[in-house]
Amino acid sequence: MILSDMKKYILFALGILMISCTENDIEKGYEPILVSFQKPSNFPDLVYNLDANPLTEDGIALGKALFYEGDLSSNGAIACAFCHEQASAFTHHGHTLSHGVNGNIGFRNAQPIQNLGFQNAFTWDGASSHLDLQPITSDLEMGETLSNVIGKLQADQGYRNMFSKAFEDGEITSSHLLQALSQFMVTMVSSNSKYDKVERNEGAVYTTIEADGFASFNQKCTSCHAGSLQTDQSYRNNGLAVNPRLNDLGRYNLLEIPQDLYKFKVPSLRNVAVTFPYMHDGRLSDLESVLDHYASGMVDTGTIDPSLVKADGSLGIDLTTYEKESIIAFLETLTDQEFLNDERFAEF
Ligand code: HEC
Ligand code: HEC
Repeated sequence: MILSDMKKYILFALGILMISCTENDIEKGYEPILVSFQKPSNFPDLVYNLDANPLTEDGIALGKALFYEGDLSSNGAIACAFCHEQASAFTHHGHTLSHGVNGNIGFRNAQPIQNLGFQNAFTWDGASSHLDLQPITSDLEMGETLSNVIGKLQADQGYRNMFSKAFEDGEITSSHLLQALSQFMVTMVSSNSKYDKVERNEGAVYTTIEADGFASFNQKCTSCHAGSLQTDQSYRNNGLAVNPRLNDLGRYNLLEIPQDLYKFKVPSLRNVAVTFPYMHDGRLSDLESVLDHYASGMVDTGTIDPSLVKADGSLGIDLTTYEKESIIAFLETLTDQEFLNDERFAEF
């Protein structure tokens, strides 16, 4: 008798608990806690329009969950983070060309995910004009359609709750999915390298070789790798030979303008010491090879940047052995350990 009363009580209590849980979840819904974006003082203005997609705690948390979610791919195994790993500034460590679902090899080297809110176009040729447009539907990457992804997320109670907290109408739609990913990515700011601390007079001082490298870099590289993001966001041909297997036409793919042939976006050099291999197809494995390319490895494929053609018609940038070494020492000051180890971006 006592036992069955106990049981009834327990069942009753559990019932209340369950009801209150569900009610709680529903009540909790959309109560946005806004997150303010702190622009580093040595950075240009944000390009990403936060008014159209305000940062909220739940939006960023959802974006992070999605970034690490294998279910965004057709085989359940390829999350964004598969090709964008934190330790290498969210590039695909050790891969010249990124491979995705079923081991398909893509045709480009994965780019870092950092400071993207300051960029006005995305991917190596700038084909993607807005951060809210992601490569999920590319066969070589995630092999999945957006509508299938949405279906999988809708079937998941955890994601239903997260979307209801992140967006006012609570709906699981592709635009909300992409907006949440953008919210997370916009927060991924790398601005605490030694270089930044020198720029902002925060007590850091370059060694002699780093200071020499910085001087040479300013003289020989910043016409393209300009400003605190180290890119003027233009598209240029820096004298790489055409990769015969890929024959990637670069910026030309967009509008088929002949002058755009073999031009690629000038990449930011932040965290460059950890984002090897280099160039759009990952053909150069280390920074020494990059400097050798600039000094003596260039080929004219018809659209080479005029600034890389010397007065006597030969190609390249004059660099002594010490200039190469010191530029590399300077490039290493762009490594931002705080960013590479920031728990806010790490997989749970
Ligand atoms: C299979 C590997 C792979 C996966 C998975 C992948 N990416 Fe990428 N990502 C790449 C490659 C390669 C590029 C360069 C593409 C190009 O230039 O055409 C890229 C480029 C990008 C860019 C542009 C960066 C810039 O500086 O312009 C963003 C943003 C991005 N990825 C976000 C994501 C997100 C978000 C996901 C998950 C939804 C994802 N990626 C999944 C390989 C991958
Ligand atoms: C004329 C413009 C220009 C100049 C000058 C220039 N670069 Fe570049 N740089 C580029 C472009 C464009 C790319 C990407 C090329 C590609 O992948 O097709 C690039 C790529 C790189 C990369 C590879 C980054 C990555 O993520 O793969 C490094 C490193 C680099 N440059 C360093 C330098 C250094 C150091 C100098 C000075 C010695 C320099 N660059 C001068 C335009 C330039």
